[in-house]
Amino acid sequence: MALPAPSDKATLTFNDGTAPIDLPIYKGSVGPDVIDIRALYGKTGKFTYDPGFLSTASCNSAITYIDGDKGELLYRGYPIEQLATRCDYLETCHLLLFGELPNVQQKADFVKRVTNHTMVNEQMQFFLRGFRRDAHPMAVMTGLVGALSAFYPDSMNLNDPWQREVSAIRLIAKMPTLVAMAYKYTVGQPYVYPRNNLSYAGNFMRMMFATPCEEYEVNDVLVRAVDRIFILHADHEQNASTSTVRLCASSGTNPFAAIAAGVACLWGPAHGGANEACLNMLFDIQKQGGVAKIGEFIAKVKDKNSDVRLMGFGHRVYKNYDPRAKLMRETCHEVLNVLGLQDDPLFKLAMSLEKIALEDEYFVSRKLYPNVDYYSGIVQKAIGIPVSLFTAVFALARTVGWIAQLNEMIADPEYKIGRPRQLFVGATARDVKPIDQR
Ligand code: CMC
Repeated sequence: MALPAPSDKATLTFNDGTAPIDLPIYKGSVGPDVIDIRALYGKTGKFTYDPGFLSTASCNSAITYIDGDKGELLYRGYPIEQLATRCDYLETCHLLLFGELPNVQQKADFVKRVTNHTMVNEQMQFFLRGFRRDAHPMAVMTGLVGALSAFYPDSMNLNDPWQREVSAIRLIAKMPTLVAMAYKYTVGQPYVYPRNNLSYAGNFMRMMFATPCEEYEVNDVLVRAVDRIFILHADHEQNASTSTVRLCASSGTNPFAAIAAGVACLWGPAHGGANEACLNMLFDIQKQGGVAKIGEFIAKVKDKNSDVRLMGFGHRVYKNYDPRAKLMRETCHEVLNVLGLQDDPLFKLAMSLEKIALEDEYFVSRKLYPNVDYYSGIVQKAIGIPVSLFTAVFALARTVGWIAQLNEMIADPEYKIGRPRQLFVGATARDVKPIDQR
């Protein structure tokens, strides 16, 4: 989207004799203003320095807004709480991709378009066979999503809006099929083809859990829980994987390659890998003695000399309860009740750990609250999704956000290839000596 007219200016002065310069300030519809520093280097020969983007807006966007202090998350203006309780995932996808929630006819058309593309090329299973059976599903997903570009040469051109739309629908439709195939491959079961009369989440669960000898009985509460996981993970503005997708696509690569880059970034334990890391942390505490060992574990987390973190807690943007965590917590209780798991020791441990951390001065003073990953792992584990697949489920859900952000970038008249600069602190120019003199 083109920037609005500047609302004000900031004057930057220097102590080294460089002339002061005026920098335009832009106001968003809500949230902090930004100072436009694009002309800084040209006018002063200086760069800005902001590793980790602590104070830097990398783009302007009209998709998702987070108020980290309030604990507010809006997709295209709609509060996540309303979307999670009044809409389903495909309606949310429509909203993120096209800017508006669909009406009845638009929803029917969109669902039809997506379900038309749920199968993957049969060659994909031979490609999968090249992986070890014990390969991590995210290693497999990075490969499979990237490989889609080898199958769809007709929707590779990022600069063609129609091709971008076709690849968006393909990606949204095929991600559940690919994640389920990655799972079936690891457990040595036959792949289950999509069934298009089921809902998006119901179809995913059937592809995961049905076998040729037994049909999967779809449980509405569990399907709703999975659908909610998808909605809550659908977008989260300029996080690491989304920024990766934008940067990757800024070179003009194809949409499948850009989304594969997002999948790779999401894998990290500080990002989407946190749900898996969180469950592994709970398993570890349980092995060491469970609830009785929480005190010892918290002491390790607080010890500056240890690198132990309370996984599923803390967030770069939320300095309040993550609104997604609240919704996920609700779903967690619903799922545990329906499965009769309220007394499961692992889940009791998670609840006790959360309570203790929320009252501990270390977490309170740093505004560290549970994030969505704290509960989504517990819900997925209860449903029977293996821990190693959690991040792949996150990737499935986030695909629509990545695509919406990528589309927004390409349509932005101000978009350029992403090319950060650096403060160079290495050796200055020197001569290579012959090897016997080094
Ligand atoms: N456990 C213990 N201490 C923590 C934690 C944690 N989970 N998170 C932050 N801190 C402390 C950190 O040690 C630092 O303390 P001090 O000021 O004394 O040095 C302070 O809080 C600020 O931490 P930071 O690392 O500067 O914060 P950040 O904004 O760079 O990191 C984070 C954000 C999400 C990477 C971090 O909170 C973390 O590692 N959390 C655990 C991993 C996790 O749950 N990630 C999922 C994020 S939500 C899903 C998603 O969007 O991907």
